[in-house]
Amino acid sequence: MTSDELTPDGRARVLADGGALPLLGLGVWQVPDGPECVNAVRWALDAGYRHIDTAQAYGNEASVGKALRDSGIDRGEVFITTKFFPRGNDPVGAMQQSLRRLGVDQVDLYLVHWPQGGPTRAWSGMERAAERGYARSIGVSNFSAAELESVTAVAERIPSVNQVSYSPVDFRQGLLEACRKHGIALEAYSPLGTGRLLRDTTVAEIAAAAGRTPAHVLLRWVVQRGIPAISKSVHRNRIEENLRIFDFTLSDEDMARLDALDRTGHTAEAQERPWW
Ligand SMILES: NC(=O)c1ccc[n+]([C@@H]2O[C@H](COP(=O)([O-])OP(=O)(O)OC[C@H]3O[C@@H](n4cnc5c(N)ncnc54)[C@H](OP(=O)(O)O)[C@@H]3O)[C@@H](O)[C@H]2O)c1
Repeated sequence: MTSDELTPDGRARVLADGGALPLLGLGVWQVPDGPECVNAVRWALDAGYRHIDTAQAYGNEASVGKALRDSGIDRGEVFITTKFFPRGNDPVGAMQQSLRRLGVDQVDLYLVHWPQGGPTRAWSGMERAAERGYARSIGVSNFSAAELESVTAVAERIPSVNQVSYSPVDFRQGLLEACRKHGIALEAYSPLGTGRLLRDTTVAEIAAAAGRTPAHVLLRWVVQRGIPAISKSVHRNRIEENLRIFDFTLSDEDMARLDALDRTGHTAEAQERPWW
């Protein structure tokens, strides 16, 4: 259904609903609300990031909104994602509060954070949030292939995105294929393995040979497939470093060495150990 199409500048993934999801975003999971979050987002925007990923569960939407306003960058230039906290029952009401905290009229992407209570439970509320114009695009996160089947079977509007943990060790080829079949863009979270993969010896060897950093290699492995990635840092130098992945290419041989780190066995699952 989908062709993994990129925008003409090669920097964003075209979504089935016509939206454009930038290939690299800054994530703010585990960043406390307040100056640390405001600074990280502001440094990212100043460096050239145009995609910020937050969530109701992260408790820092207000800081994301403040950094966006302080940056002076046009709202229309920045892609903002937030996520419905699925222990609640009302995606529309929760979104009204997110919009107030963010200080915007609409987010670019609103995701069901995880399939709490089953994959279809929140979806009609997500569709209502989109109908009301609160979200340009809607999608899901941490959904397996089977859960995507369930939600697409009842959806009036198919999810545009499935945000899942994705990196060389979390390759999830079965899930990637399932997303493609439904025209859903897979979006990679924890592309650095929440930092752990930066110490992997294969990654370090490839980085040293290419004159790049381990973070470059891991992020490049994702975006070279046309898959959007969200990485997190609260350090300005690292935020800037992570953006420098569009001026080099990994060889087929390096890509294959990284592919071989997969520990998911071609899985179509989104999570080895669900937390919900
Ligand atoms: N949908 C979901 O359920 C879900 C789940 C997890 C994550 N996410 C999203 O994905 C984002 C990214 O995932 P993540 O937070 O797990 O982690 P990640 O981006 O895979 O890794 C972040 C870690 O790596 C460190 N780091 C970043 N860049 C570095 C560099 N260039 N050199 C050395 N260390 C570096 C960071 O440390 P410092 O901050 O100290 O620099 C942090 O400890 C999250 O923030 C969130 O927005 C979504």
